[in-house]
Amino acid sequence: MEGKTTKSIGSNGHHAPERSAEQGSPADSTDPSISWRSETATLHIALLVNLARNAPPVRRNAPTDILAELDADKNVEAYAAALRARNYDVLIQEGNAHLAGWLDRVQPDICFNTCEGYGGENREAQVPALLEMLSIPYTGPAPLAAAITHDKPTTQRILSSYNLPVPHFQVFNSPDDALRTDMTFPLFIKPTHEGTGIGIHNDSIARDERHLRDKVAEIIADYRQPAMVETYIEGKDITCGLVGNGDDVHFFPITEVDFSGYPAELEAIYGVEQKVTYDELYRNKCPAPLGNRMTDEIRRLTHEVFLVTQCRDFARVDFRLTAEGRPYILEINGLPGITPRSDLTLMAEAEGWTHADLVCAVLDAGLKRCGISK
Ligand SMILES: Nc1ncnc2c1ncn2[C@@H]1O[C@H](COP(=O)(O)OP(=O)(O)OP(=O)(O)O)[C@@H](O)[C@H]1O
Ligand SMILES: [Mg+2]
Repeated sequence: MEGKTTKSIGSNGHHAPERSAEQGSPADSTDPSISWRSETATLHIALLVNLARNAPPVRRNAPTDILAELDADKNVEAYAAALRARNYDVLIQEGNAHLAGWLDRVQPDICFNTCEGYGGENREAQVPALLEMLSIPYTGPAPLAAAITHDKPTTQRILSSYNLPVPHFQVFNSPDDALRTDMTFPLFIKPTHEGTGIGIHNDSIARDERHLRDKVAEIIADYRQPAMVETYIEGKDITCGLVGNGDDVHFFPITEVDFSGYPAELEAIYGVEQKVTYDELYRNKCPAPLGNRMTDEIRRLTHEVFLVTQCRDFARVDFRLTAEGRPYILEINGLPGITPRSDLTLMAEAEGWTHADLVCAVLDAGLKRCGISK
């Protein structure tokens, strides 16, 4: 990545969490003396997190946005406060290599999973896979859905097979791969499996083959994964969130990103600069002024994407909507950010919910799905 972020990542993004110097929270604890405060609490909840400050060292020359998905203490405190306000007993633990032993010791009723994973192609599926192996209930996607939704080409292939509208795309394993003839410029280049705009910058739009191949080479080298090349969809950035399961879902007001507050030299794309570096300049329209028909259509598509990717409890689907009124699905976030500044939280707040209401709604969806009464 070419020095595109001016602030250290993990700082202050309304997607990405704030890095905190504060140490010693229970999140990285393997201390055997830590145990539930109340044996009689209606629920014992293990809040599983991946804090930026606990991340393993990154390789030399890694792009500065590589840890942008990881969380911060103040966000974790907000999740815990929301759950504790309901008088649940909450222990906080890192979703790391110590997790299995820790869970075996504390035996939670359910885990509230926020783990993005520290690395690996299927990083969002790692904690769900462990929880499935241990037969411990948890919120959010199962390993299969987490792996699918983390991998953009796999998601788009599934959505295409259901005739859901996605941009044309081609995966480049090498910058020299032949460009398919149906891939017409402008094209958009991004990593195949990241989030929070990681690897998405001003130069992600290619208008000629030279630029395309340079950018593909950069993504493959910097992010150590194939590059996803899509038709660039000129249009509005729309995102639609829900909580619930199956047909029992609640849609939040749809958000349109308003790019007018960002520096003029930035393209109107929702990349890591917009999400993290210039987070304080973020503006949105929520509810997006789409009219009833388009609102219903975006919600219908969101629900269908949620169901066919087998997501659970909550999700956020990102779209581009053309001037002609054609929505294109860019991705589903199976484990969307729920920090106090995340898009999902801002949507919920736009209809009068608090951040705590949102956290508890995700928990309630998980409890109901797992048949756990409190
Ligand atoms: N094919 C495309 N055409 C136009 N813009 C695109 C395209 N793909 C991505 N973008 C732009 O890049 C932004 C981020 O893309 P995308 O949602 O795929 O990345 P992400 O890092 O997974 O995001 P998130 O933070 O939601 O996890 C989109 O909101 C949009 O502005
Ligand atoms: Mg997105």
